[in-house]
Amino acid sequence: MRFVPTPCLSPGMIVGKDLYGQNSELLLAEGNVLSEVQIIRLKILKFQGIYINDEISRDIEVRDMIDSEIRNRLVRSLKEIFVKTENGEFAQNDLVNLKRMVDDIISEISTDTDIIYNMMDLKFFDDYTYYHCINVFILSLIVGLALKLCRDELFSLGMAAILHDIGKIFVPKKIINKKGRLTDDEFEVIKAHTENGCRYLKEKWEVSDESALAVLTHHEKNNGTGYPYRLKADKIPLYGKIIAVSDVYDALISDRPYRKAFLPSEAMEYVLGCSGRCFDPEIVETFFRRVMPFPVGTTVQLSNGMTGVVIENHPENCLRPKVRIISEDKGGTDCYDLLNDKDLLNVTIVDSFTT
Ligand SMILES: [Fe+2]
Repeated sequence: MRFVPTPCLSPGMIVGKDLYGQNSELLLAEGNVLSEVQIIRLKILKFQGIYINDEISRDIEVRDMIDSEIRNRLVRSLKEIFVKTENGEFAQNDLVNLKRMVDDIISEISTDTDIIYNMMDLKFFDDYTYYHCINVFILSLIVGLALKLCRDELFSLGMAAILHDIGKIFVPKKIINKKGRLTDDEFEVIKAHTENGCRYLKEKWEVSDESALAVLTHHEKNNGTGYPYRLKADKIPLYGKIIAVSDVYDALISDRPYRKAFLPSEAMEYVLGCSGRCFDPEIVETFFRRVMPFPVGTTVQLSNGMTGVVIENHPENCLRPKVRIISEDKGGTDCYDLLNDKDLLNVTIVDSFTT
């Protein structure tokens, strides 16, 4: 299967993977033949794209990190927690549920320490906050696994990652949703979400000290210019460093009200450019050995004018995957290994059709 952005979908295409709505309702079933009406619906729901199966991509397998139904349940649980907390209620049952789900997910993925994130994220634009938290959670766990953290450590990291911005509940909506530039005073209010989040979790939710500390420090920067404490490199706790990279990367590759999503490769360039200054270089390096900017099934444009589908990634150099060339006469049998084929050293990926 391959990922096809919504604007490029056409009636008659075959759905490659079950697609669920925000309430876990099945929107499209694998094998379904797409109709015009379904495509319009996907556009209304603001899906970036879906997986389809066609001749060129039939044998390409895309593996979910976590099942989309579980992902949706997590989103619902998180939303419930945020809304209740905002209303001054204590979301005890939701928190118990959330902890159980986090624990289940860790059990499922922790057996595969070589796991790489190799899939397009099918997030909903409207519930960005919650999907973003889930993505930061998954990305952080992948880094944690690569660093060989034990189960308890992964749990602490996971809880911190999924709740990293809980403190934003205490920031007035008019500041959170402001489209223009924030005043210095407004920015100070936003910055307090780290301390408020940490305090709230410690007082009310009995999360571990490590989790609370990670929430507190996820905006610290390696060179000591972050907040709230302007901590420098070795003073920033490990989980805070991991969440910082995951948070920025996922925010960059997401559509926001004020800008379109960056290409994953552009987001990678940005994060690499800030390595050392904002982020811990070792965490950045680990991150891009595990998180692929051109996931399997991505359609890419090459600098020699050809178009292809990514069929395999090389974790040691995620910018130069194996690509199956789409050509009308040959039906997509030519394969370019951008890393190992010496004749292709001057060929680069110049675009990817992700949105
Ligand atoms: Fe934050």
